[in-house]
Amino acid sequence: MKRRKFIKRGALALGGLSLATGFYTWQVEPFWLEFVKLKMSIPNLPSHFEGKILMQISDMHVGNRFDRQYIIDSFKKAQAFNPDFVVYTGDFVSYESSEQLTQLQEVFQHVVKGKLGTVGILGNHDYGKNWSEEEVAHQITDILTQKGITMLRNEQVTFEDLNFIGLDDYWGTNFNPQQVMSKIDTQKANLVLCHNPDVADEPIWNQYEGWILSGHTHGGQCKPPFLPPLMLPVKNKQYSAGKIILDDKRTLYINRALGHLWQVRFNVRPEITIFELSKS
Ligand SMILES: [Fe+2]
Repeated sequence: MKRRKFIKRGALALGGLSLATGFYTWQVEPFWLEFVKLKMSIPNLPSHFEGKILMQISDMHVGNRFDRQYIIDSFKKAQAFNPDFVVYTGDFVSYESSEQLTQLQEVFQHVVKGKLGTVGILGNHDYGKNWSEEEVAHQITDILTQKGITMLRNEQVTFEDLNFIGLDDYWGTNFNPQQVMSKIDTQKANLVLCHNPDVADEPIWNQYEGWILSGHTHGGQCKPPFLPPLMLPVKNKQYSAGKIILDDKRTLYINRALGHLWQVRFNVRPEITIFELSKS
């Protein structure tokens, strides 16, 4: 009898633990935003930029898969840091239909902007179905431009003395990094925005030395403790999240995403990154 009771209690405890973990993974962690702070040293950075704040926001995935108010609330918290620069590294929407364009307009009424500059690039989800709808990419670019974001599609822009190089998405219809990488001035203070970290392994870098800010992986969204995430949408499985020192004096940073593709996260909290600039 005692043994049977023990087994029954154990099964109940296990059931309760599974329910609690399920609830946490579904309702708590996907909305438990972390502001990750780290230093970013940039070659040739003018000394008056020392200590300035550059904020990275990535993979918002505005759409019908989770409550958009979470993104708006996160934007409000982010703006309170009063960043000097804000960069958006793609996947603004989870595109299903033109409804997402209206939702994007609504959410980006609360756009986080930098005092000195606000820059964005597109991700694969900003290209609509099968990442192949060029017209969707144009419409999203137009909306974000109207909201005050300088959208870079294989282009570069300099705000004061900091030069932002923005690559269009690797899986989209306009991946043409040579268009901008052939024109970079290595004497400038440069920073590359590139949605998909796999591009770091492509032969396109033309002597570039410095940081590459990416997103795309969401850190895998669920990660067993001490093990790599089970699902990563990249060829190079080293590229899951965080800071990775590459060869040729490049540093890759992969943001874990603000939004999510599906409303589940475990051991991979959503992130907005706050870089403090310094001269290298
Ligand atoms: Fe994404």
